Amino acid sequence: MVQTPAPAIELNNLHLAFGPKVVLQGASLSVAKGDIQVVLGGSGSGKSVLLRCILGLLQPTQGSVKVFGQTPDVGNISAHAALMAKCGMLFQNSALFDSMTIWENVAFSLLQKGQTTGQAKQVAMEKLSMVGLASRVADLFPAELSGGMKKRAALARAICGNPELILYDEPTTGLDPITADVINDLILKLQKELKCTSVVITHDMASAFKLADRMAFLYQGKFLAEGPAVEFEKSQNPYVRQFVEGRATGPIAATL
Ligand SMILES: Nc1ncnc2c1ncn2[C@@H]1O[C@H](COP(=O)(O)OP(=O)(O)O)[C@@H](O)[C@H]1O
Ligand SMILES: [Mg+2]
Repeated sequence: MVQTPAPAIELNNLHLAFGPKVVLQGASLSVAKGDIQVVLGGSGSGKSVLLRCILGLLQPTQGSVKVFGQTPDVGNISAHAALMAKCGMLFQNSALFDSMTIWENVAFSLLQKGQTTGQAKQVAMEKLSMVGLASRVADLFPAELSGGMKKRAALARAICGNPELILYDEPTTGLDPITADVINDLILKLQKELKCTSVVITHDMASAFKLADRMAFLYQGKFLAEGPAVEFEKSQNPYVRQFVEGRATGPIAATL
């Protein structure tokens, strides 16, 4: 019998609310190792909340999260740190530390772990080169970089620990279409070089179709549709169609 390898991520029936505001209500998703899983969903649909559940920064009130077979739990500090060492995260706003140079930002986790400045800087320089940033950028501060360069630097930080799983929260939002596509190409390149699993949260359909092996659509707290990108493109589900085509009219009411 051929055994299917264990998935990188298993979300089973997640429920989560902030007071009366229900965000997740029955979200289930399995992400296979080596895949790029795109998660689509409108603004405020709970995409970033879902990522925080995967990282163990938020606990669902019901349901289970498994990342490489483990439940991420910040309460168990050493187990959580070991699990997080396998994960890289690209935050929505790049989230670089303003008072640190670019290389210090990239090497932050290494410096925290007590690596020497020399060792940490060497790794940072290698990662900056992987994301196409010139070495002269290393000693600049985030405020001196363009939006696209900041994204690259944040990406270099996300891959600093050679992660097995990379989580991207809206990697192309706020970038012009050409810079956005450069970031898409970089995501594909890193996926190949690191042989990792990726979850990309986006509402940029061009980016979604370029990157996805599989797509999932989060709506009203659960995944309304999930499948290979090619099938998703042809989906007849009226909710999926409206979102993919970006139409104001349809079953989904715009939230203004
Ligand atoms: N810490 C929090 N406290 C209260 N409400 C929150 C918190 N984080 C997120 N929310 C709410 O949960 C919903 C989903 O948020 P989020 O996951 O950030 O949406 P998005 O899909 O745009 O990433 C939003 O209505 C947001 O206001
Ligand atoms: Mg978000």
